Amino acid sequence: MEKKTFYLTTPIYYPSDKLHIGHTYCTVATDAIARYKRLKGLDVMFLTGTDEHGQKIESKAAEAGVSPQEFVDRIVDGPRGVRDLWKLMDISNDRFIRTTDDYHVESIQKIFKKMYEKGDIYKGAYKGKYCTPCESFWTESQLKDGCCPDCGRPVVDAEEEAYFFRLSKYADRVRDLLENTDFLQPRSRVNEMVKNFIEPGLEDLCVSRTSFSWGVPVDFDPGHVVYVWVDALFNYTTALGFLNDRYHDYDKYWPADVHIVGKEIVRFHSIIWPAMLMSMEMPLPKHVFGHGWLLLDGGKMSKSKGNVVDPYILAEKFGVDALRFFLMRTFPFGSDGNFSNELLIQTINTDLANDLGNLVSRTTAMVGKYFGGVLPAGCGATEEERQAALADSCTASGEGPAQFDLDLAHQAAHLRAAYEAAMESFAPHKALDEVFKVIQRANKYIDECAPWVLAKDMAVNGARLAHVMYVLLETTRICGILLSPFMPSSCEKLFAQIGACEHCRTWDSAAVWGALSDTASVTKGENLFPRIDMDKALAELEAAEAAAKTADQPDIELEPQLTEQVDFDTFCRSDFRAVKVKACDAVKKSAKLLRFTLDDGTGTDRQILSGIHKFYEPEELVGKTLVAIVNLPPRKMMGLESNGMLLSAVHTENGEERLHLIMVDDAIPAGAKLC
Ligand code: MSP
Repeated sequence: MEKKTFYLTTPIYYPSDKLHIGHTYCTVATDAIARYKRLKGLDVMFLTGTDEHGQKIESKAAEAGVSPQEFVDRIVDGPRGVRDLWKLMDISNDRFIRTTDDYHVESIQKIFKKMYEKGDIYKGAYKGKYCTPCESFWTESQLKDGCCPDCGRPVVDAEEEAYFFRLSKYADRVRDLLENTDFLQPRSRVNEMVKNFIEPGLEDLCVSRTSFSWGVPVDFDPGHVVYVWVDALFNYTTALGFLNDRYHDYDKYWPADVHIVGKEIVRFHSIIWPAMLMSMEMPLPKHVFGHGWLLLDGGKMSKSKGNVVDPYILAEKFGVDALRFFLMRTFPFGSDGNFSNELLIQTINTDLANDLGNLVSRTTAMVGKYFGGVLPAGCGATEEERQAALADSCTASGEGPAQFDLDLAHQAAHLRAAYEAAMESFAPHKALDEVFKVIQRANKYIDECAPWVLAKDMAVNGARLAHVMYVLLETTRICGILLSPFMPSSCEKLFAQIGACEHCRTWDSAAVWGALSDTASVTKGENLFPRIDMDKALAELEAAEAAAKTADQPDIELEPQLTEQVDFDTFCRSDFRAVKVKACDAVKKSAKLLRFTLDDGTGTDRQILSGIHKFYEPEELVGKTLVAIVNLPPRKMMGLESNGMLLSAVHTENGEERLHLIMVDDAIPAGAKLC
């Protein structure tokens, strides 16, 4: 029989800065779900990637003095970049898409054209508000106190010729999808979407820009680039090969089973995304799950606020699995949660070192000490336990030793069902809670059975002691299987320590009491989760964070300031003007020179040559408003006349020369005097 498929995705991340623990949270959660589905035997496609276009990236690259492509390459593929982070965090994605990949760009152009030819995209003029950091357009009524409703930052007026998507046409169908199906989860997000966005009326969405160039070009209208969210959302289909030849998995995996996304992008995924798919007449994803944010001191983490937590530092200090576990165990997946280092250390100490770590190390140590690492044959699951494990409730009565065994066997064998129900409803925190109830029950069982007392008279109690050990190993095995999507490499070690073979690590065997061989070979290995000294660890973290901050600061060298003074009149004789770049090209046979054709407000084009090709590609400068000194005598370079000089800021960063052209507000008209 063909395997059932499961297609799940994370959002694709903006490589505008290094990723932080909030991004890690989202990806680890999706990874745990992907691993759980694989454990159940499904044919899983797990996609993640990066969303590399847009004004924010273009501006950041300009600030860094590199091309946008170089800028994103560094953050995606560079050391401690996005790919490195997912590798470190043991993320098992099957595919990684970059929206600058050729095949994706090709598909997006075809998709845009299709919706245009259908009449769902039309040309108009855009007037409204734009939040640059979020790359989001807003109408006046959607603003919160005049600012972006998502991030609270100021918005700017925007007006330009643009293409629009007929979002309004799909309003009723989208509302029906939200209100009458389980498409959007958790359910509480449905009210948010309907109240805040659908009820006030869905306006058509501006889906192209002309004021910057770092995006997928609209191939039938040069000068326009596709709005970054249209480009980004369709990644979920282009990565499967939709309208391209790079992959051929669209028919197999689409529609997606779930898109896991953070709450601030639920609007894009639950309103705009289904509407565009309806326009394309494509099947809709089965679910969108909007998780909450990890907060720091009550606020959202963001690089610009300077309050981000670096996952590298935490994973290196506490271990990847401990960090993965903490993220999933501590914060209810649909809600916000407050991150703190104290909470992380506390969770590791309580759940991993005390509860799970102790169960494994005490059990394996006792099997080693009392039985040399191999229990006697015949000490395994009893028929009564098997019956108790199968029963809906544990009916055996009495307080004796057998009652403890039956109770634990029953709980362990029923754990999988409770865990599965939680995982299927996207509640990994609840699934872990179920596992830890059993782990705690098993630790209590050790105290109830007091193996060290039994061991005092092996002749009388040897068989009982062996069975108690078996009950503990078997419980540990079942818990290990269900924990493996969260802590894959630690669970491998756990299985090795309790001697669990391949057949007794499977999903099926997690609901069977007695799958572990009674003579499995048990070895007490390394302590899986050592206890952490809170004060010492906090001090070390603080030092590591401070060192990382210093390492992040570039080593900047500035030109020394001149002490020689110029008199005011001499200075005022320099004529600085705002100029607009009409055209820019590289001067032939020159590695350095760019030739600018500029509107300087006089009605006659001005030509200026500038040796800045190393810092800019000519195309990215067209349309920009720059500053030029216009009353310098003409100069010839490579046979061409240069009439003036463009102003730029220069410095050295980590030994490398940097240059930034001075760009001013595009609202300043060409020819305006700067004084
Ligand atoms: N590029 C868009 C997604 C496009 S998907 C078609 C984007 N990128 S992002 O890098 O800004 O954010 C990616 C994901 O990380 C989002 O789901 C966001 O909610 C999540 N998180 C970013 N900071 C977070 C926290 N502090 N806490 C939890 N998740 C957070 O949005």
